[in-house]
Amino acid sequence: MMLAGKRVVLTGAGGGIGTALMAALKAAGAHVVACDRDCAAIEADERVAFDITDVAQTEAAAARIAAAPVDVLISNAGGTRVDGIEATDTAAILHDMALNFTGAAVFSRALLPAMRGRPGGSAAVFVASVNGISHFGSPAYSSAKAGIIAWARALATEEGRHGLRANVVAPGSVHTPAWDARKARQPDIFARVTALYPLGRLVSPAEVANAALFLASPAASGITGTVLPVDAGLTGGNLPFIDIISA
Ligand SMILES: NC(=O)c1ccc[n+]([C@@H]2O[C@H](COP(=O)([O-])OP(=O)(O)OC[C@H]3O[C@@H](n4cnc5c(N)ncnc54)[C@H](O)[C@@H]3O)[C@@H](O)[C@H]2O)c1
Repeated sequence: MMLAGKRVVLTGAGGGIGTALMAALKAAGAHVVACDRDCAAIEADERVAFDITDVAQTEAAAARIAAAPVDVLISNAGGTRVDGIEATDTAAILHDMALNFTGAAVFSRALLPAMRGRPGGSAAVFVASVNGISHFGSPAYSSAKAGIIAWARALATEEGRHGLRANVVAPGSVHTPAWDARKARQPDIFARVTALYPLGRLVSPAEVANAALFLASPAASGITGTVLPVDAGLTGGNLPFIDIISA
């Protein structure tokens, strides 16, 4: 019960990683404020539906949530539908930045007054991606994820005096609905992508949730401003390169 009685705000609560986070947070004893575009099917202590790409909706939702203290924010909503630079047109740039950077930044900043001075401190955990660390496709999405890593470091540095810790988890590929369109185009995509991962498998939504829970919990009380890859070793080294040069 690492977060017993703590009020935790979770965005993207209805998605693949969000569902695993909901389960992990409930098991940790948290009071969860679930946020998503549509929350009707989500079982939570509080539910707040808004489109995080809409700044006015996002600010209004944050103001309602911030009427009571917030101990933890897990900023998880995100995604992309665009893989390469050719397909990254102006609409894709604006959309991926709005969803993965602007929405998360506006929302987290608006919650700060409710997160300052909490007993035992407060924590923000941003679900970024290995794409924010190195380039694996989806240029605008990757730029937005790199931006949110910088944002988390800014919060860690400037808000630490108010007891707030801010950290990032950077997942590698995770089999969630985010991959549905790619899987429809290439049915064997997971087998092919798995070959790039040193552990010989992808990470699960529960493994990402566990890392986020750790960073949100008192077990990480001395940790702030960090980026934790949860990527089965992808960013540790280049396995296909090693296989080629040692053949
Ligand atoms: N699945 C992966 O391979 C992977 C890898 C690295 C990082 N991530 C990141 O993990 C997070 C969760 O991804 P997932 O795989 O669970 O994806 P998902 O598509 O299963 O879930 C995304 C969630 O975000 C919500 N969302 C999307 N647009 C929204 C909007 N405009 N307003 C409000 N909510 C919105 C969706 O409704 C959904 O609940 C994302 O930030 C994603 O970028 C995923």
